[in-house]
Amino acid sequence: MLILAIETSCDETAASVVEDGTKVLSNVIASSRSAFETSGGVIPEEAAREQVTCILPVLQQTLSQADVSPDRLDALAVTRGPGLLGSLLVGTTAARTLARLWEKPLIGVHHTLGHLSSVWLETSQADEPAFPLMTLSASGGHTDLWYRTSHTTGYLLGRTRDDAAGEAFDKGAAMLGLPYPGGPSIAKAAEGGATDAFAFPHPLKKEDTLDFSYSGLKTSLRYLLRDLTGDVPLRDVAASYQAAICEHLIDRIVLALKRHPEAREVHITGGVSANLALRSMLREAIPDRVIRFPLKIAYCTDNAAMIGAAAEFIVREQRGRAFEPFETAATLPIEKAILRP
Ligand code: KG4
Ligand code: ZN
Repeated sequence: MLILAIETSCDETAASVVEDGTKVLSNVIASSRSAFETSGGVIPEEAAREQVTCILPVLQQTLSQADVSPDRLDALAVTRGPGLLGSLLVGTTAARTLARLWEKPLIGVHHTLGHLSSVWLETSQADEPAFPLMTLSASGGHTDLWYRTSHTTGYLLGRTRDDAAGEAFDKGAAMLGLPYPGGPSIAKAAEGGATDAFAFPHPLKKEDTLDFSYSGLKTSLRYLLRDLTGDVPLRDVAASYQAAICEHLIDRIVLALKRHPEAREVHITGGVSANLALRSMLREAIPDRVIRFPLKIAYCTDNAAMIGAAAEFIVREQRGRAFEPFETAATLPIEKAILRP
């Protein structure tokens, strides 16, 4: 199928034309993120207002870059939630309007299912991932560890009990006086720093669980910065804090693999999967496993191509249900998108 996908769940206005869930014909993203560098986070009202002005030019550019006219499309897809309601409504209103105008079916996609599908983008048929597999999706809004038997079936092994991993980067960066989003700015500040310069706690290490918890790490950083005297060795603090965030993600994956040795691959998705320290630490921790990240950094952070891929897989696996009417929702349980096998 040839799908035009739209994603506006946070501050980005993104659209993409994706063929058969893997081939990306165009992938356009306009972001108002730089406007929020100093505010420590996105201001929802301002983001939505910006998206209203961006959405039509982004859609035009997406179609023209793909060299596809609307009559060639098989369907439209859009993120239906979760996210900022005002932002989501910009995308879903545009998608509903165009679907009706062009007389095309519309597929509502859960944002996290988009992240889970991002690993398939630009893979060839010969190199397609094989189920069952494990996917960690770590972003600013969620940290979920999945056992997946197909694109849309599986179950959650663990999820964060408090902050998301990306949130730990964002809040840590704010404490360190670094710009939002915190992931890339902490990664940059950590360059050349010593990862063992400061000891951070190991969350939930003694509990028999695959859940995550990041609020303790954030609090330790606050106390560390309060108690440090003299010049703060920023790169050492950033490197140690970054390593602690990554170690927690990795120790859950290692434990999950002990419980599910039959998992054929390990996938890491979501904004945090862009982190290079995480990538190398994970490769070191499980050298014998097939590990995959999205093939481009642009597919780690929010983008519309992953929504187009997810929509394709929903249609393949759920057939007619894929085109059922849906509501736009700021809160949307992932269990609605991924069913127990
Ligand atoms: O998936 P995403 O773009 O949006 C959400 O769905 O939240 O993820 C954004 C999150 C932010 O918290 C950001 O700090 C983090 O991903 N992030 C990173 C990196 N790039 C983005 N975290 C660590 N290292 C990075 N290079
Ligand atoms: Zn996301």
